[in-house]
Amino acid sequence: MIVAKSIAECRAVRAAMGDSLGFVPTMGALHEGHLSLVHESKRRATKTAVSIFVNPTQFGPKEDFSKYPRPIDEDLLMCREAGVDFVFLPEPIDIYPTDAAKMTIEFPELFGVLDGVHRPGHFAGVCQVVAKLFNIVLPSVACFGQKDYQQLAIIRAMVKALDFPVEIVGCPTHRDPDGLAMSSRNRYLSTSERDRALAISRSLFAIRDTAARGQRDVVVLAKQLQDGLLDGWQSPVKVDLQYGAIVDVDTLQPIDRIDHAAQALVAMKVGSTRLIDNVRLTIGHG
Ligand code: PAF
Repeated sequence: MIVAKSIAECRAVRAAMGDSLGFVPTMGALHEGHLSLVHESKRRATKTAVSIFVNPTQFGPKEDFSKYPRPIDEDLLMCREAGVDFVFLPEPIDIYPTDAAKMTIEFPELFGVLDGVHRPGHFAGVCQVVAKLFNIVLPSVACFGQKDYQQLAIIRAMVKALDFPVEIVGCPTHRDPDGLAMSSRNRYLSTSERDRALAISRSLFAIRDTAARGQRDVVVLAKQLQDGLLDGWQSPVKVDLQYGAIVDVDTLQPIDRIDHAAQALVAMKVGSTRLIDNVRLTIGHG
């Protein structure tokens, strides 16, 4: 496995990889969820590249950029064992030279809801770095997790709007056996916080069942979701529910009734750790 640390090195390695290159952009602290993206990339392309870069521009001033885990040796080992062909491992100064003009990409409707409201500037930072990484790595396919549902929708919109010649693949959320969606931030959770965090997947699965049984009224489903998330009276752990919302699967805008399908999304702080998760709601009948 080759590790390219500069843009020039990365371009040279990429040129030797041929037309079919799958790409998994990450911020490191890799887990099984990332590996499932690598496996999907390997199914779809001859070679696979992973980037590991904790992108400063997608963190707000009060967020966890400096404490974000950076277990780089473990990450490289996991990539090697998963059969990754090359890793791009730049420094912030390579991606954001101090003399470069500032540039942002914006999608007002997709940025104006959910995490876009709670993390101002986050998606502009994500688009900025993903656009740059696509132009440096030049993948033919790129794999992203559906756990970051809004991010995936925004990246699809960016690729369409800017005509990037990249196929975007959304991969299913990887969960621990008890349902908790895998996230690099789960390692911040204490045992009691982790127990409290299980309300997120449980409540999402519960409304998925209610919708499958025919409940189309979003007010009813959203109340069931929020009640489930906040029903933690036995737990000493403090939570801050930022949203528990049911929206259109493509536009992410609020809806009143589910016609066929909708997306339910949650962001909740458990202790000081902000967690997100989502599920697809599909009406069975009714
Ligand atoms: O999903 C992530 O890990 C990041 O947002 C990404 C896509 C690697 C951009 O920094």
